[in-house]
Amino acid sequence: MIKMLRSAAAALLAATALAAPALADTGGTPTTATLHADKPGPTYDRHIFTQFAEHLGNGIYGGLWVGNDKSIPNTNGFRNDVVGALRDLKVPMVRWPGGCFADEYHWREGIGPQAKRPVKVNTNWGGVTEPNSVGTHEYFELLRQIGAEAYISGNVGNGTPREMAEWIEYVTAPAGSLADERARNGHKQPWALPYFGIGNELWGCGGNMRAEYAVDETRRYSAFIKPVAGTQILRVASGANADDTNWTETMMRSARDQVDGLSLHYYTVPGRGTWPPKAQPVGFDEHDWADALAGARRIDDLLARHTAIMDKYDPQKRVFLAVDEWGAWYAQDAGTHPGFLRQQNSLRDALIASTTLDIFAHYADRVRLSAIAQMVNVLQAMILTDGKKMVLTPTYHVFMMYRPWQDATVLPIDIVTPWYAKDQFTMPAVSGSAVRDKAGVAHVALSNRDPAQANTVTVKLDGIAATSASGQVLTGAAIDAHNTFAAPDTVHPMPFSAATIQNGVLSVTLPAKSVVVLDLR
Ligand code: AHR
Repeated sequence: MIKMLRSAAAALLAATALAAPALADTGGTPTTATLHADKPGPTYDRHIFTQFAEHLGNGIYGGLWVGNDKSIPNTNGFRNDVVGALRDLKVPMVRWPGGCFADEYHWREGIGPQAKRPVKVNTNWGGVTEPNSVGTHEYFELLRQIGAEAYISGNVGNGTPREMAEWIEYVTAPAGSLADERARNGHKQPWALPYFGIGNELWGCGGNMRAEYAVDETRRYSAFIKPVAGTQILRVASGANADDTNWTETMMRSARDQVDGLSLHYYTVPGRGTWPPKAQPVGFDEHDWADALAGARRIDDLLARHTAIMDKYDPQKRVFLAVDEWGAWYAQDAGTHPGFLRQQNSLRDALIASTTLDIFAHYADRVRLSAIAQMVNVLQAMILTDGKKMVLTPTYHVFMMYRPWQDATVLPIDIVTPWYAKDQFTMPAVSGSAVRDKAGVAHVALSNRDPAQANTVTVKLDGIAATSASGQVLTGAAIDAHNTFAAPDTVHPMPFSAATIQNGVLSVTLPAKSVVVLDLR
């Protein structure tokens, strides 16, 4: 019977873009693929690697900003270790100040002498005090240190169009009273503000609006986002929650001419999306592994549905889709504040990241911005800190391995792979994407979601004359392998040599539960 099931599975090899029921585990069935370098696709926009940093828990305070704390080496208040790691990652842009926080944020409370700034209550995240020590000037100082661009989310929830317009003027104006005030506060030159969000989650914490109301608010606020001559501010409308296609339909029908981007938020919440999340970030079993990875794959279906609506109203694809919150959301780490959303990050999160980044390649003509939630210490973070200590997560390492994807050309890759199944969760075992960078080098990412079986992949290379493949692998001994302050290198990229190219065919043996990224030369 088992033999029969396995051969049935082999017959039902899965094309990665398709979702069909699985009959059995991978059974060692190899994967075949064709990489169409002769049919290059769109650019994989570097802004897909945007990071989200909200005033939430230790996302800003402690994680990035240590102010005058001399015990942690810092530059102008931002810790050197974290900034250095983010600079290495080539973070292209940072979305700030929220999140839910943004729709209650009043920018004037975050300028001027820090000691005089009002101390508020962070009503969204734990009811803790918000010192406003990090405001507009500090945000742009962080961007300067990292080498990233600005993406500010404005306050539509309890702000006004005037407040928002004046913030934009304060940031960007070369002259006038607000520019003078900015200069008095220490920055004479205007800053660039390439992206601006018109509120956040207007359907929820941003004001509990119906789509029909939110679309009019979006049109209204958009009218007051006025870039200085010769500059550009791309306006991003607050978008749908997961599968709320009515929201996308309404926004595209009635506000597509007033915005440049429309957002979409989707979190992977294993355990049937039970709220608050109960799934553990580490110490889980294979059922939970498969649950989370199947959940991450759901974004493929969501993107297909939302982009189809956008195609209907905007076939030229002028309006981009900004998946500006995504990632895994588990129960918080034991002993941490429930409002701080602090969660450990494991090899499973690395596979969630690679899966999602691969899926974005299929939609790169429309998805031109995304922001994983969040950058430091919150949800699926790149970096965890505790006082002076810092550790890089498996997700950080995936983002590092995918750096060549930034602004590279997508090379379509068709993958035919066996199904991996656990309990009710099924998915193609191997995920992948490929790009060609500006220097002409092709890069291929392949992830094996099967936690127990290696998989042999052969890739026919159409339009690539490469003869060698080398790169890195990220894997671990256990499905929940993770890095701690005591053992920071449990999961880290290793040189990978199990790949060859012969007669235009790349052959790779992917270890179980691994992410492999190769340069083809
Ligand atoms: O990322 C945490 C929160 O999730 C954000 O503040 C909000 O936009 C979303 O609901």
